[in-house]
Amino acid sequence: MNKIIILDFGSQTTQLIGRRVRELGTFCEILPYDSFPAEDPDVIGVILSGSPLSVYAPDALLPDLSGVFGRYPVLGICYGAQLISFLGGGKVENSGTREYGRALLNYVAEDCPLLTGIEAGSQVWMSHGDSITALPSGFRLAASTDSVRNAAFWNPDRRIWGVQFHPEVVHTADGKRLLENFVVGICGSRREWSSDSFVETTVRELQATLEDGNVILGLSGGVDSTVAAVLLNRAVGSRLTGIFVNHGLLRKNEFEDVLADYRKLGLNVRGVDASGLFLDALKGVDNPERKRKIIGRLFIEVFEAEAAKIPGVKYLAQGTIYPDRIESRNITGKVIKSHHNVGGLPEHLNLSLCEPLKWLFKDEVRSVGLSLGIPRHMLFRHPFPGPGLAVRIVGEITPEKVRILQDVDDIFIRSLRAEGLYDAIWQAGAILLPVRTVGVMGDERTYDYAVVLRAVTSSDAMTADWAFLPEDFTRRLSNEIINKVKGVNRVCYDISSKPPSTIEWE
Ligand code: XMP
Repeated sequence: MNKIIILDFGSQTTQLIGRRVRELGTFCEILPYDSFPAEDPDVIGVILSGSPLSVYAPDALLPDLSGVFGRYPVLGICYGAQLISFLGGGKVENSGTREYGRALLNYVAEDCPLLTGIEAGSQVWMSHGDSITALPSGFRLAASTDSVRNAAFWNPDRRIWGVQFHPEVVHTADGKRLLENFVVGICGSRREWSSDSFVETTVRELQATLEDGNVILGLSGGVDSTVAAVLLNRAVGSRLTGIFVNHGLLRKNEFEDVLADYRKLGLNVRGVDASGLFLDALKGVDNPERKRKIIGRLFIEVFEAEAAKIPGVKYLAQGTIYPDRIESRNITGKVIKSHHNVGGLPEHLNLSLCEPLKWLFKDEVRSVGLSLGIPRHMLFRHPFPGPGLAVRIVGEITPEKVRILQDVDDIFIRSLRAEGLYDAIWQAGAILLPVRTVGVMGDERTYDYAVVLRAVTSSDAMTADWAFLPEDFTRRLSNEIINKVKGVNRVCYDISSKPPSTIEWE
């Protein structure tokens, strides 16, 4: 299948370039800037990403791209464009101030195929501190803005393009058109990448690689593990066993509901209710990291004990997706986020790892799920942390607190769905505080727990805004919670964004 290679120089928007290319029906791989594949007959073009670095600084990333230029069409974006200019003998200088934000193209070369269909006046998005002040020989000007003369340039003979602005962000009005001009018009992509084609080729590949032996997969009720399971089930049928562990800190009825959903999908699943074990081990523990450690350790123990009951297991499947692997990598020396899915294979199990979703972005996982016939309510559910309600019960966990929080959470989530608010929110849930306050119900004084409701909007959980909920909705909601959930007499709403707060309270 045709593919575009995106060389990553550490920009925050590299993944976005990848997603845009995939939206154009074209497979792409994001690789570290110095790891261009030696021989890969499927490569049809190369994109060089942006970077927080400067090409002339001592720590600049300057890979040898002599085997790339002239062989494949190349598009450099921001740092990528500066690199093309710098390596070709052009001039890149600090422009004194950082140029950040929108600008309008005031000149567009009519004969440049990268800019076909894009006219002067089109808005582009800039984010750079360096400017290309002289183009290398063989290069021509393709577009300018008022403050950036060399906003786009090209070498028609060697089929190399550079753009100082970011076509991958939505603020560049014709960014999608520009990338389409490159990927389809210039590189000649056959646009073979789609959810259906992914399912077809992956099922075939899985059948070929998982020749014999059984496969196990930890199911969590989340989108990634569900899609991985259904895909594997299509490939190897009942040779796949999914293991779904109830740690007693799931949402109300979630264990039973999700198991029923899995069975409806025809999956071979073992549900293990280990609630008692987990809650016993968590008795008296109030430190958030200790809670996480205990849950993580027990989870592996329970999973392994169940796996040991299945004969002939050769493979461990995981729902790892592409961003888990890219985010775990370190291009410029700064780790952005380390992921629990990556590198967590217990070695003594002696199993081969199988990650059928490792090339997919989150939105692609959902599309593949739809292609596989998985119901929408399973694919478009809010993220839920692995340790579950343990990180939403501040302080010590008791069975009584779990019951209270499950009831509050259940009312909150059901109300959001009934009001049509659920899908606009990234993640919602309730938090139980280790605080009791005085209230009055009828003629009685109460002394009960305070709960906090949290709902946020986000696109990737790295940053989040608290969500505005309509006043009449919150009034009804707090009434219902206090009237129906025994043990709660106060409801608060969390109006903190991330950063500086986090989504979870622990
Ligand atoms: P924070 O609280 O860091 O959460 O803003 C960001 C996202 O990660 C989820 N989260 C976790 N997921 N294990 C998980 O599997 C954890 O320990 C964990 N802690 C936070 C959180 O729900 C949100 O989606």
